[in-house]
Amino acid sequence: MFGVRVQCSMFPQNLRAILSQIRYFTSVSTIRHIQNIALIGFMGTGKSSVGQFVAQQLRFTFLDTDHVIETRTGKNISDIFAQDGEAAFRDLETKIVAELIARKRTVISTGGGLPVNPENLASLKSHSLIVCLWASAEKIWERVRTQSHRPLLNEPDPLAKIKHLLEQREPFYRQADVLLNTEMRAVKDVAQQVIHQYHLAHAAQR
Ligand code: S3P
Repeated sequence: MFGVRVQCSMFPQNLRAILSQIRYFTSVSTIRHIQNIALIGFMGTGKSSVGQFVAQQLRFTFLDTDHVIETRTGKNISDIFAQDGEAAFRDLETKIVAELIARKRTVISTGGGLPVNPENLASLKSHSLIVCLWASAEKIWERVRTQSHRPLLNEPDPLAKIKHLLEQREPFYRQADVLLNTEMRAVKDVAQQVIHQYHLAHAAQR
């Protein structure tokens, strides 16, 4: 109650500032010049394999944000998490996303947690068609269970962790332009869908 009263008494003064902020964000978020494709989605949804295939077909450059981080730091993702912490890793992700703003003809494969930061998603949206690759927690677990390079899944119950993270991240993944279920499809088929959607989006902005 107290908070509401304080806000009401300040309302006329704040209204202009709030409206101008809304106008600013609306105009920023609607200016889009789609020249790249950004693949978002949980670990194990096939972003890297689909992304590489799409890049090859379109003759685009393929860029994987995790790979850029590893090259730049000289450490693998697990070591960054263990030595510097997840927050440091997320800062690196955001720095790299900001650098992508001038990119053209690039397929960007992003780390599974990258779109949780709205700043990252907004930045990617300004220049990329955002495609989210989706799969159920069970399917994801089936795909990643033999791999050991994902620090977030070094848990006593990795499937429960996947379910929890998927639930947390779903609202962010849903902000993609296109949502593709990858469960019953081969990499090539998913890639063809991505390419089709990109051509549609590209043609629509002319
Ligand atoms: C992460 C996903 C990983 C990597 C890091 C954190 C996440 O990338 O960025 O281990 O938070 O889901 P992939 O989605 O390419 O596996």
